Amino acid sequence: MSRLIVVSNRVTAPSGQPVGGQGGLSVALAEALREYGGLWFGWSGQSTAEFTGHLNLARTDGITTATIDLEEQDIHEYYHGYANRTLWPLFHYRIDLTEYDRTFDAGYARVNQRFADTLVPIIEPDDVIWVHDYHLIPLAMELRKRGITNRIGFFLHIPWPPPRLLTTLPHHQALVATLFDYDLVGFQTGEWLEAFQDYLAREVAAPVEDGSVTAFGKTIRIGAFPIGIDTAAFQTAAESPAALATRARIAASIDGRQMIIGVDRLDYSKGLEERFLGYERFLADNPDLCQQVFLLQIAPPTRGDIGSYQEIRSKLDTLSGRINGAYAEIDWVPIRYVNRGYGRHELAAIYRSARIGIVTPLRDGMNLVAKEYVAAQDPADPGVLILSKFAGAALQLPEALLINPYSQEEIADAIKVGLAMPLEERQRRWTRMIEGVVTDDVVKWRTDFVTTLEQLPLRADTAG
Ligand code: G6P
Repeated sequence: MSRLIVVSNRVTAPSGQPVGGQGGLSVALAEALREYGGLWFGWSGQSTAEFTGHLNLARTDGITTATIDLEEQDIHEYYHGYANRTLWPLFHYRIDLTEYDRTFDAGYARVNQRFADTLVPIIEPDDVIWVHDYHLIPLAMELRKRGITNRIGFFLHIPWPPPRLLTTLPHHQALVATLFDYDLVGFQTGEWLEAFQDYLAREVAAPVEDGSVTAFGKTIRIGAFPIGIDTAAFQTAAESPAALATRARIAASIDGRQMIIGVDRLDYSKGLEERFLGYERFLADNPDLCQQVFLLQIAPPTRGDIGSYQEIRSKLDTLSGRINGAYAEIDWVPIRYVNRGYGRHELAAIYRSARIGIVTPLRDGMNLVAKEYVAAQDPADPGVLILSKFAGAALQLPEALLINPYSQEEIADAIKVGLAMPLEERQRRWTRMIEGVVTDDVVKWRTDFVTTLEQLPLRADTAG
């Protein structure tokens, strides 16, 4: 088996880190590298006055990481700029929040070049290179320019936007063209894959045949590879001594009430404001049920240097305060709002203690919290998953209570239905969902992607 080089913007120490704050990507990648060996390359998360290209090598938990520091200007223009003020909002259908700025384009190109310059000397002839997410779309082009002929795959963890949105991006075609320097380009679901195909059909007149497409003089393979979780480990975590201790702590504080759990990075794409409003609607519509439930919302802050993230944080502070002020009693608050992340064992225990898991993104590539909630349930008394139709996970978990997160009424009704759902129906829905979560786990995801990539012929053309 070839060595695997995983490249992503962020390289996170694989164990002992808060899962809720990490996003699904780093958790899934740590598992992949443990299996294949090789190394994980990316930004250290640190800044230096000037870019040195110095490679920091480390070995933790059987994983070798190779990281570089970036300059302040790089971080501003590439990470806070093009990645998170241009591509992230645009790809999540938020053109109202999308910013176009030439300095961001330049920073994005420069950091991708810097990644390529530092990576090229450590690539061996048989390595398979797997690049992740929207921060690094042009990386293969930069590697090809530097003579790298290895197989290179790209996986997008977030949605691919419909063509009419993508064409609002200046130089969109140049960005899309860089994807053709990969051998394999993977998306989370058929929906995002279809949006990519629609773009190619409209803008480049390139039809897809048998999962391959030719454009810009190059042929690539494309496909949907739905990401999963490390289901077995999550199930074990829910039963671990650490989880039992957390469950006891929660049981003591629940006081016989039903808990609704939400766990999300504090991101505007997650529909947290809509969730709070939907929950408020439930409280207003059901005064008799109010005090039998509470919502625990865990929301670790993220990307706090960006204005749109500061705004959503302050909106949620106000909203949770307002709802609590309006509905709380001397011995009950409707929302417990917690701005920090938790480790896997604690999280598994929290999910298991909750009668309802609520996941309401306005758009989401996949959403692994939905799968984690299902995995952590007690088969004898499983909870109910309320899931947005606009998360990739909805295609895989149709037995959840699927809702439109823009509708407060649908959220409120689903909470009511979930609280009243008889054990038999909960078990029937959960049994279907857990089957999928077990079968389509992270092992299947990485195996499908890497095997497909390894089997593709080596490309002859290397020109960028
Ligand atoms: C999402 C993205 C990942 C990213 C994660 C955390 O899951 O798809 O690429 O790493 O969010 O975001 P951050 O900006 O903190 O890396």
